[in-house]
Amino acid sequence: MSEQQQFKVTIDNITIEVAPGTTILQAARKIGGEVTPPAMCYYSKLKGSGGKCRTCLVEVSKGSEKDSRPMPKLVASCRTAVMDGMEVKNITSNRVLEARAGVVELLLINHPLDCPICDQAGECHLQDLSYEHGKAGTRYEFQRRTFEKHDLGPYIQLHMTRCILCYRCVYTADQLTNRRVHGILDRGDHAEIATYIAKSLDNDFIGNVIDVCPVGALTDRTFRFKNRVWFTKPVNAHRDCPTCAGYVQLWMRGDEVFRVTGRKDEWGEIMDTPDGRPGWICNICRFEKKHVSDWIIEGPTNVNRHSVIAQNKYIGVKKPEETFGKLMDHRKPRIFMDIHDVSEINKPTIDLSLIEGPATSDDFNENGKEKK
Ligand code: SF4
Ligand code: FES
Repeated sequence: MSEQQQFKVTIDNITIEVAPGTTILQAARKIGGEVTPPAMCYYSKLKGSGGKCRTCLVEVSKGSEKDSRPMPKLVASCRTAVMDGMEVKNITSNRVLEARAGVVELLLINHPLDCPICDQAGECHLQDLSYEHGKAGTRYEFQRRTFEKHDLGPYIQLHMTRCILCYRCVYTADQLTNRRVHGILDRGDHAEIATYIAKSLDNDFIGNVIDVCPVGALTDRTFRFKNRVWFTKPVNAHRDCPTCAGYVQLWMRGDEVFRVTGRKDEWGEIMDTPDGRPGWICNICRFEKKHVSDWIIEGPTNVNRHSVIAQNKYIGVKKPEETFGKLMDHRKPRIFMDIHDVSEINKPTIDLSLIEGPATSDDFNENGKEKK
């Protein structure tokens, strides 16, 4: 049998061979690095995803070996298949960079700039996208559209105001669970993610909508306002789960497990297990296994050093030489402040992760109750 024919495609002057049917985005992911266009709606594990957000636009400067004409308009790389001899420009095209900045501006028209209080801050793809591809100013002077917050069942909160209508959560509910009760209703400026008559999403695997949501529109109610993601330490862990592969990441602070999520790859997508099982996790693993003893810890997650989550979690750090002793003639610095071994404010007996809702000063008052 003859070997399958491969197509040659050149992206930003780097040539690679891929199988026919591969999209430009997938080919660019094979090259990796900055050559890869950002993707807000495409998710390789969800059938039909892509083509909604236009952040992955690229310029095709040569259609193929047989027809070398360029494509007249920029194309969505997540939905355009490569042709043999195709030449594509991403970061080497000013048209693309200009258009992408326009897409970011459009996505931000209705998105609130509430990163300081949003749980997704630090792992929000829109935050990264606007930082890397957006412009500093805004030309928008009108009121942004706003929606009421909705609790979708006991575990998930929908903050529609932050939604960018990428459809990932709709595909997740469609393809992972046996019953979808939410979707995108209405059109244009009125379009919104909604459930019929506030029906809760209570399927075993519905928690995965939180992991696929690129922004802070779908958040974990058991984690909301509990901690900033960069203060927590992600560790890889697994458990023997009868429902899913139990292949997760624990977000810990000290011994407390604040959050459980699926493990994500460098593109922010759920990773399959090494033996090829799907990495989507069930609600029990995600929301109800919040003790270290529930898990077999494998070790710290390797965090991309460009991520804010990598803050203070460097491996092999070379610290500058300590000069204080030399200057002070080897005398120890005097401690003027009254430093206790155990903080009297943050009581060690109180597990922040177990408090329902965000912690308030009431939680730290005597007997856990506010004195009147
Ligand atoms: S809620 Fe999140 S995942 Fe769902 S469409 Fe909106 S942005 Fe996408
Ligand atoms: S990722 Fe291609 S259009 Fe959204």
